[in-house]
Amino acid sequence: MASAFPGLEVLYTREQIAERVAGMGAQIARDLNGEKLVMVGVLRGAAIFLSDLARAVAADATFDFVAVSSYGKSARSSGAVKLIKDLDDPIEGKNVLVVEDILDTGLTLSYLRNFFLRQHPKTLRIAALLDKPSRRLEKIEADYVGFSIPNLFVIGYGMDYAERYRNLPDICMMTPEHPE
Ligand code: IMP
Ligand code: MG
Repeated sequence: MASAFPGLEVLYTREQIAERVAGMGAQIARDLNGEKLVMVGVLRGAAIFLSDLARAVAADATFDFVAVSSYGKSARSSGAVKLIKDLDDPIEGKNVLVVEDILDTGLTLSYLRNFFLRQHPKTLRIAALLDKPSRRLEKIEADYVGFSIPNLFVIGYGMDYAERYRNLPDICMMTPEHPE
C-alpha cells in the first residue's frame, strides 16, 4: 500500500509491528498478575495501536479514550497541552495503561500523567509504540516501548501528517525532508 504513495519509505513493516506488539502485550499481561486493566488510548494517533495491543494482552481489560490538542505548531515550544476529550469513566483505584503512538518531546504524556495521577489510579503505566528519546524536553519514559527511533518524522499505523496516512499498514518515513 505504501507504494501507492511515492516518497514514502517503510521503516517497520506490518509483520515487524505485529511481532513487537505481541511481545509488548505479553509483557503487559505478565506485569498485571491477573488483575484488571483500563487501557486509555490517546486519540487519534493511538487508535490502531490500541486496537492491536488490546488483543495481544491476555487480561480482563476495558477501554477509555482521551484527546489532547497542542496549540498549533508553536505549542511544542510553549508546552501548552489542552485536554479536549476527558475520560468517560473514573480511574480511581484502577490499573491504568496509557496507550500512545509516539513519545516525542514528552509534553503530551507529562501533561496526561499529571492529569491521571491526580485521580489516584492504583497503577499508572505508559505504552508507547515509538520513542524518540533525542527529542525529549520533559523527563518522562514509557514503561513499554515498541521501537526506539532517531529524529525522523513517521506516518502510518495510526500516525499522521496533516491527518493523512493514518491508514497505512506499515510505519513509513516521510522523505527526503521531513515536514516539521
Ligand atoms: P510530544 O508531546 O512531543 O511527546 O508529542 C507527541 C505527539 O506528537 C504524538 O502523539 C504524535 O501525535 C505527534 N508526533 C510526534 N512525532 C511524530 C511523528 O514523527 N509523526 C507523527 N506524529 C508525531
Ligand atoms: Mg498523538
